[in-house]
Amino acid sequence: MNILITGARGQLGRTFMDLSRGSDNRFIFTDITGDGDVVALDATNAEEVRKVVEVNDVDVIINCAGYTDVNRAEDDEDMARRINAFLPEVLAAAAKEADATLIHISTDYVFDGNSSVPYVETDKPAPLGAYARTKLEGEQVVMESGCRYLIIRTAWLYSCYGKNFFKTMESLTSERPSVNVVMDQVGTPTYAQDLAEAILHVIDNDHLDKTGIYHYTDEGVCSWYDFAAAICRGFGYLCDVRPCRTEDFPSKVRRPSYSVLDKSLFKTTFGCEIPHWEDSLAIAVADYMKMMSNK
Ligand SMILES: NC(=O)c1ccc[n+]([C@@H]2O[C@H](COP(=O)([O-])OP(=O)(O)OC[C@H]3O[C@@H](n4cnc5c(N)ncnc54)[C@H](OP(=O)(O)O)[C@@H]3O)[C@@H](O)[C@H]2O)c1
Repeated sequence: MNILITGARGQLGRTFMDLSRGSDNRFIFTDITGDGDVVALDATNAEEVRKVVEVNDVDVIINCAGYTDVNRAEDDEDMARRINAFLPEVLAAAAKEADATLIHISTDYVFDGNSSVPYVETDKPAPLGAYARTKLEGEQVVMESGCRYLIIRTAWLYSCYGKNFFKTMESLTSERPSVNVVMDQVGTPTYAQDLAEAILHVIDNDHLDKTGIYHYTDEGVCSWYDFAAAICRGFGYLCDVRPCRTEDFPSKVRRPSYSVLDKSLFKTTFGCEIPHWEDSLAIAVADYMKMMSNK
């Protein structure tokens, strides 16, 4: 398979780059700025996207590009919309023309978090903020495009790359005597490597015709406080991680208080086992320590 990755310099994109080394597929890595193995491609540029898809005879597009800064999105919703909604529309049109499949990554934030049981794919979305609104619009344009697609909603994504909660907490708990972390928002941390491996499982097992929305996170449920405490313990730091409430950290962004996703459909459709977040965190800690010691 010829697989085009957009947003290849982001945390999910870089994870695909790691996994591509042991894969039989051919990958074309692109991002808005090129670097090393990454080709420069602004994925909002329809003409350029069409050209890259045609020249490389692309079978699958995995859209890892996104406007993921939820705070900045509140101040610049137009830009967030351009990347989170217009860009997938461009990719969907190119996929349709080339008879390729678009795998588009979306988010738990499409829900408002008022549920008390895990969200299934057919639950009604109710985005709370600008980032979430634009991501939901992205899903809608892909569904309306007529292309073959898999929309995969994930949550609490972290990796050894870029900026994310795992790296922030590693740094804070290594330096500070204590850290306060919210305990009244629950969800499931998802190691980017698990998501990327699950997507490659879907591709390698000929499931690309199963158009639809699917939920994928790691297994289990925890609060941001639990996750931070586990990160601190994992690295062997002595910081006192303390629980606090969302209202202790005033923010213009409203976040869902409950954003657990039900993964049953993903597991039954694709015959895929999903690791528990605590097991994956242990692997991420080991990967990160190895990466830091090689620097
Ligand atoms: N992070 C999470 O917790 C989380 C949770 C749920 C879902 N998701 C979704 O998962 C996906 C991947 O997230 P991530 O955390 O890996 O994102 P990320 O690290 O922010 O990476 C996104 C990449 O897209 C690039 N990009 C922006 N505009 C582009 C354009 N016009 N053309 C090509 N590339 C462009 C960015 O470049 P610049 O950095 O130069 O802008 C960046 O390299 C996103 O769709 C996100 O919404 C993430």
